[in-house]
Amino acid sequence: MAVFMVVFAVIFSLFCFSSALLRWNELRYRKKGLPPGTMGWPIFGETTEFLKQGPNFIKNQRSRYGNFFKSHILGCPTIVSMDAELNRFILMNESKGLVPGYPQSMLDILGKCNIAAVHGSTHKYMRGALLSLVSPTMIRDHILPKVDQFMRSHLSNWQNHVIDIQQKTKEMAFLSSLKQIAGIESSSTAQLFMSEFFKLVEGTLSLPIDLPGTNYRRGFQARKVIVNILTQLIKERRASKTKDVDILNCLLKEEENKYKLSDEEIIDLIITLAYSGYETVSTTSMMAVKYLHDHPHVLEELRKEHLAIRAKKKPEDPINWEDYKAMKFTRAVIFETSRLATIVNGVLRKTTKEMEINGFVIPEGWRIYVYTREVNYDPYLYPDPLVFNPWRWLDRSLESKNYFLIFGGGTRQCPGKELGIAEISTFLHYFVTRYRWQEEEGNKLVKFPRVEAPNGLRIRVSSY
Ligand code: HEM
Repeated sequence: MAVFMVVFAVIFSLFCFSSALLRWNELRYRKKGLPPGTMGWPIFGETTEFLKQGPNFIKNQRSRYGNFFKSHILGCPTIVSMDAELNRFILMNESKGLVPGYPQSMLDILGKCNIAAVHGSTHKYMRGALLSLVSPTMIRDHILPKVDQFMRSHLSNWQNHVIDIQQKTKEMAFLSSLKQIAGIESSSTAQLFMSEFFKLVEGTLSLPIDLPGTNYRRGFQARKVIVNILTQLIKERRASKTKDVDILNCLLKEEENKYKLSDEEIIDLIITLAYSGYETVSTTSMMAVKYLHDHPHVLEELRKEHLAIRAKKKPEDPINWEDYKAMKFTRAVIFETSRLATIVNGVLRKTTKEMEINGFVIPEGWRIYVYTREVNYDPYLYPDPLVFNPWRWLDRSLESKNYFLIFGGGTRQCPGKELGIAEISTFLHYFVTRYRWQEEEGNKLVKFPRVEAPNGLRIRVSSY
C-alpha cells in the first residue's frame, strides 16, 4: 500500500509539474495577435510530436487551428502556413522581410555567399549568375551532351547484379553535376570530392553541435576539403588554356561573363549548385524507379516513348534537346513521382522584423513553414490523389497552376527545374531502354521528414 502511495504521489507530482510547465510555456507566447496553436515544451517545443507523427501532426493541428497556426518545432517558434493564397504572398514578398529560414547549420556549412544566405540585391546578382549557367541554351548546347555522356557510362554493366538504386542515384546526381561543373567524373579528385560532399550534406541536416564526432563538425571539415579542391581546380583552370565550356570555365571567363564573381563567391555558387540539385534529383530518380516497378502499365508507356526515340538513332547517338523535348510522358512521370512521393514537403522562411500577415502579428525572427505537402493529396486538385497516374500531367497547364509548388514559387523558385528534369529524363532513358529490374525482398521506405530507404533500395537488374 505504502509503495502504491509513493508511486501515485510521484506520478501525480510529475503530471502537475508537466502541466504547469506546458501552461507556463503557452502563457509565455500568449502575445496578442499571434495565430492559434500550441507551443509544447520549453526549448523542445513540439519537435518530438512533429518528427514522430510526421504529416499527421500537421494535419491534426490544422483540423484544430486552421490553415495558419503557430507551433515550436526544430528549435524555433514557427508558423505553419497551409493556405494557398498566403503561401503565395509569403513566397512573393522577400523584400518585405520574409527571407529564407533554413537552419544555421545548413547556412554555415554551405558558406556565407550561398544563395539561401544572401538577400536583396546580392541574391538577385547571385541568382542571375546561376540562371545564366543553367539557361535552356546552356542546357541544350553544353550541359545535355555532358549529362548524356555521363549517364551512358554510369549506367553501364548493371545487368546480372543486385544494386542499391538509392546509392546509384545519389552517386548519379552528384557526379553528373560535377561533370557539368568541371568536366570530371571518375578521377581520384571526383571520388574524394564525392565522399567529402556526402559528409557535407549530412552536416547540413544535423543539429548544430560543434563537438568532435558530430555530423556538424564532420560537415564543416568536409567543407574545408571541398574548398581546397575547388581552389586548386580554379588555379589549374586559370593556368590552362582549355576551351571546354563547363560551368567553371563560364564563371572564370571574366571578359565574356556579365556576372563578375570573386573566387569565394564562385566556390559557394558551385557548392550551391551541387547541393541544391543533389537530394531532389537523386530521390526523384529513385522513387521513379520504385513507382515504375510497381506500375508495369506506366513502365510500358514510358519505355514506348524511349524506344521510339532510340529507334531513330544509332546506338552511339546522344540524347539531344529535340529528344528531350519529345519526352512528354517522361516529364509527366517525373511530376507524378514528385507529387505522390512529396520529395519536397515545403520551404522555410523567417521574418526579419515584426509583421502582419492575414491579420495576425508575427514577431521578428519567427520561422514560417510554407507547408505544401497536403496540396499534393488534395482530391479536388488531383482526383484519386493516392493513385500513381502520370497521364494527369499530360495537360501541361497543370504545371503552371499557382498551387503547384513542387519547385517552389516566387522570387526563389527553383532555377534548376529544367536541368533537374533533363537529368532525370536522361537517366530514365538509359535505365528503361537497357534494363529490366525486380525489387528484392525487405526494402523499407520512409516518407518523412525526408523520403529515403534507410537500408537501401535493392533491385535485381537484367538486360532488357
Ligand atoms: C527534381 C529536382 C528539383 C526539385 C524538386 C527542386 C525543388 C526546389 C524548390 C522547392 C526550391 C525552392 C526553395 C525555397 O523557396 O526556399 C528550389 C530552389 C533552388 N533550386 Fe531546386 N529543385 C530541383 C532541382 C534543382 C537543380 C538540378 C538545381 C541546380 C541548378 C537546383 C537549384 C536550386 C537553387 C540554387 C535554388 C535556390 C534558388 C534561390 O534561392 O533563389 N534545383 N528547388
